[in-house]
Amino acid sequence: MILRDKRLLITGVITGDSIALHAAEQAQREGARVVLTSFGRVRRITERAAARLPEPADVLELDVNNAADLEALTDSLRDRWGGVDGALHAIAYAPEDALGGRFMTAPPESANQAFQTSAFSLKALAAALEPLMGQGASIVGLDFDASVAWPIYDWMGVAKAALESVSRYLARDLGPKGIRVNLVSAGPLGTVAARGIPGFEQLADLWHAQAPLGWDTGDPSPVASTICFLLSDYARAISGEILHVDGGFHAIGAPTGQLPAG
Ligand SMILES: NC(=O)c1ccc[n+]([C@@H]2O[C@H](COP(=O)([O-])OP(=O)(O)OC[C@H]3O[C@@H](n4cnc5c(N)ncnc54)[C@H](O)[C@@H]3O)[C@@H](O)[C@H]2O)c1
Repeated sequence: MILRDKRLLITGVITGDSIALHAAEQAQREGARVVLTSFGRVRRITERAAARLPEPADVLELDVNNAADLEALTDSLRDRWGGVDGALHAIAYAPEDALGGRFMTAPPESANQAFQTSAFSLKALAAALEPLMGQGASIVGLDFDASVAWPIYDWMGVAKAALESVSRYLARDLGPKGIRVNLVSAGPLGTVAARGIPGFEQLADLWHAQAPLGWDTGDPSPVASTICFLLSDYARAISGEILHVDGGFHAIGAPTGQLPAG
């Protein structure tokens, strides 16, 4: 039970496929207390997913771009728990004209929206939680390797590069309070966000050809396990890190043509 009695805020649950839902489920099995967030018209779908957790979880309202929601979140968590031990940022959004091979034509408003919702929001969430967090607290975000350019990922890729940098600056500024900030760089998974990227299958096919361990786009559980590790005290000396959970894909320069063992 590596998360026994940890009070965790988990954002980014929509459906049963959401990486965040799998993280919430594993965290509860590891002993954590969990509250989810959602917003607007998808909230009812989140509530349905939350009810199916091992321990049905409450869902708080949070549009991460809305200052009033962030303020209310701080108050609500303070009233509920007095403090917070960890948080998962599993939030990303880019308008359709900023994805799918439209890099050169995307308007600045769309690129800015991708940046604000997918990268700046990690700072926004961390700032809302900082007053409630103390020594040993942990913030985890979700990345798609932004050290290179990808087909179709376009301005979301640029936003992920910003997210990587934001997490390092947060590690710098929150470290002295004992708060850790890390990212999990996941391989492609068939969630709502991923299916919204035209040509997502193209990325998934790359993984099938090149991940030495193989990769199942329908199984978020290895990513969820790593999130739980980073939220736990086992990761107490890790901050500003990006952990790749991608079947080993990032370490290999080109398809090897070998099938994974087993
Ligand atoms: N699925 C993949 O292939 C993959 C790979 C690497 C990283 N990721 C990242 O994992 C994270 C979770 O995505 P997912 O794949 O589980 O998809 P998902 O669609 O299940 O989750 C995305 C979440 O972002 C939330 N969101 C969007 N705008 C928001 C806003 N303004 N305020 C609050 N929440 C908002 C949505 O409500 C949703 O819950 C994202 O950061 C995504 O980029 C996904």
